[in-house]
Amino acid sequence: MENYQETFLQIAQENIHRYGIDQLLDFIAKSDFFSAPASTKFHGSYPGGLVEHSVNVYRAMTKLNADYNLGYSEETIAITALFHDICKINFYKIENRNVKNDQGQWVTVQAYGVDEKIPLGHGEKSCIMLQWYIQLNIDELLAIRWHMGEFDTAVKGGDSACARAQDYCKLVPLLHIADMIATKIMESK
Ligand SMILES: [Fe+2]
Ligand SMILES: [Fe+2]
Repeated sequence: MENYQETFLQIAQENIHRYGIDQLLDFIAKSDFFSAPASTKFHGSYPGGLVEHSVNVYRAMTKLNADYNLGYSEETIAITALFHDICKINFYKIENRNVKNDQGQWVTVQAYGVDEKIPLGHGEKSCIMLQWYIQLNIDELLAIRWHMGEFDTAVKGGDSACARAQDYCKLVPLLHIADMIATKIMESK
């Protein structure tokens, strides 16, 4: 069984040399990032799911970057992949839920729920939190902001900025597609 925390830190330390990265990794280490799930029930809904998902996105993104000869730097790939879901820090709680068991009886089980304390959005919040520690360039900002692609609530509300961001640079669809590959293929049961 892979130690994803170790892998995550190794990828970050080998590829990211930007001013503030030590402070960012320190913040991550003191947070619940390495123990948090990736979602409540859709993918990686177990302790450590978030760091595993982040490493999976990095691997998918690295492969696509090479296969399509996109030429993004190792640092940009590592930053956008490893930290695109940093907004999920301090975001989940364990709660009791009533479900029917195999015999049709109601039982109480523990499950993850959302406890959003700072409602700044999803991609938006990851951008804002990252910029507390490191500077992101425009491509990285756009990729992280719009990594949910057509599933972003702003898109559902009629915002056309996601489509324009996807045309602005290939890093935007690259992160979104790698996120989908990680979620729907690498992490799908
Ligand atoms: Fe996300
Ligand atoms: Fe993600």
